[in-house]
Amino acid sequence: MINDNNHEDILVSQIDTGVLTITLNRPKFYNALRNNALKEIADVLTSAEKDNNIKVIIITGGEKVFAAGADIKEMNQLNVVGLLNDNRPVFWNKIANCSKPIIAVVNGFALGAGCELMMHCDIVIAGDNAQIGQPEINLGIIPGAGGTQRLLRTVGKSMAMQMVLSGEFINAEQAKNFGLVSEITLPELSYHRALKLAKVIANKSPIAVRLAKESLLYAYESTLAAGLAAERKAFILLAATDDRTEGITAFIEKRQPIFKGQ
Ligand code: HXC
Repeated sequence: MINDNNHEDILVSQIDTGVLTITLNRPKFYNALRNNALKEIADVLTSAEKDNNIKVIIITGGEKVFAAGADIKEMNQLNVVGLLNDNRPVFWNKIANCSKPIIAVVNGFALGAGCELMMHCDIVIAGDNAQIGQPEINLGIIPGAGGTQRLLRTVGKSMAMQMVLSGEFINAEQAKNFGLVSEITLPELSYHRALKLAKVIANKSPIAVRLAKESLLYAYESTLAAGLAAERKAFILLAATDDRTEGITAFIEKRQPIFKGQ
């Protein structure tokens, strides 16, 4: 069971059909992401991949804090060999490779690994209390889970340099202006907004959603020509699905489509 809540660092719930919610649950430590938290998230996502009833995943830390970074005390125990053998990158890869859409609901601090977790998600809804940053430089280190790469690709060179080199936080408005966040709400409304959006996506064809996500993320990895070719192949592949026939037929018959993921 995915939502058996047999977890130490997260809570998992499936309130609505099709939407699984992962809530980071170490509020005393500002949801600092120790290895176990990432392992639990990765494990839940791996199970969610196999469950056809789950269409969209929401990751939140609640209304006060998203995550204040890697657990600094845990990180302090690892020397260079410990970091070399650390399985954290395996967990990050599982999160990055999740084929289903992930919506982050970000309130309060999203710092260091918290900001990196946010950037692993596909859509970010932020509360107006969000404070986002990569403050690793204050610890004499640098981001280690995509914080230099994903941040620069999203906000551009100058802002990425400013955030990573100074460690200063940006607010929700700035994050939205720089494309890190798609919408800002009141903190108490952020989860509801994400849930509404998740339900909209959950009603689409899951195959089209999967290939759309894959094509969009390909833009990070490839040249424009390679990205366009990959998009075209995915577009053509969808012609073999019942969902495409249903979607187009429903439009012509002026009714709502019923997608079955076939
Ligand atoms: C472990 C943390 C923590 C963290 C907060 N806490 N952040 N514990 N790791 N990243 C704990 C504090 O020790 C404290 O516990 C409690 O949470 C509340 O924090 P306070 O500092 O008392 O709260 P406040 O004064 O409100 O300040 C909030 C804060 C500050 C600005 C978020 O806690 C802070 O600067 N935290 C560290 C942020 C950071 O540097 N993140 C990057 C981490 S490195 P106690 O028990 O003392 O009360 C990283 C590397 C990624 O993420 C690399 C990937 C491999």
